[in-house]
Amino acid sequence: MLKLDKINTYYFTRHVLWDLSMEVPKGSVVAMLGRNGMGKTTIMRSILGLTPPRDGAIYFEGEQINGLEPHKISHKGIAYVPQGRGIFASLTVKENLTVGARGQNAPNAWTLERVYELFPILKERENFHANLLSGGEQQMLAIGRALMTNPKLLIMDEPSEGIAPLVIKQIGEVICQLKDNFTVFLAEQNFNMALSVADYIYIISNGTIVHQCTPDELRCDEETKQKWLGVS
Ligand SMILES: Nc1ncnc2c1ncn2[C@@H]1O[C@H](COP(=O)(O)OP(=O)(O)OP(=O)(O)O)[C@@H](O)[C@H]1O
Ligand SMILES: [Mg+2]
Repeated sequence: MLKLDKINTYYFTRHVLWDLSMEVPKGSVVAMLGRNGMGKTTIMRSILGLTPPRDGAIYFEGEQINGLEPHKISHKGIAYVPQGRGIFASLTVKENLTVGARGQNAPNAWTLERVYELFPILKERENFHANLLSGGEQQMLAIGRALMTNPKLLIMDEPSEGIAPLVIKQIGEVICQLKDNFTVFLAEQNFNMALSVADYIYIISNGTIVHQCTPDELRCDEETKQKWLGVS
């Protein structure tokens, strides 16, 4: 569904991603792991056209998308939940969910009702301003907002950041539930969360992929965990 082919991305003169290639198959959950500042967010920004790669190619459903404007890329069916969530603090929960909604008339579309079924707490908080929600509720709102655009691919940047362990588990369960008819690409610092949801893992260091494997392989690979992630 998504393919990155030897992309090189820069911030002005600073070369951040180096000949980076990866694939996200349809209907899978793919997670990137890596320490701070290694390039995870930059990979997402490259895909979304926010910081387009200077060379290499990005394909979505077989079509080359690098070089397109960010809104055109998002309209192809890619939703983004940014690090820090990107919700509107001064809008209510319901307003946040409906303001960017798209494709509500398609069969099996994500609607307000379906998002409330997925996250019942959002229904209870429907008329609260988003800044009154807890971190976990804000993350649910951010995911709900993304679903309301009825994307084919959901890209999430560190969904567990700043969230209580119990809620991380709950969000992980929702991601697993979604993957039946959905493709998810996420960046995580939370090792256990990534391993519990992903079908496949890429480890990023200094703007390149240094390791790729299944979660089961990584679980038993003490050397890789130590070397690239500092976990054991
Ligand atoms: N706007 C920018 N201008 C210049 N350099 C940047 C910019 N944004 C990020 N960088 C640099 O690019 C590198 C990769 O950053 P990036 O945010 O992609 O890492 P990350 O893996 O997402 O880190 P984190 O886990 O902290 O979110 C870092 O060295 C960072 O300092
Ligand atoms: Mg980041």
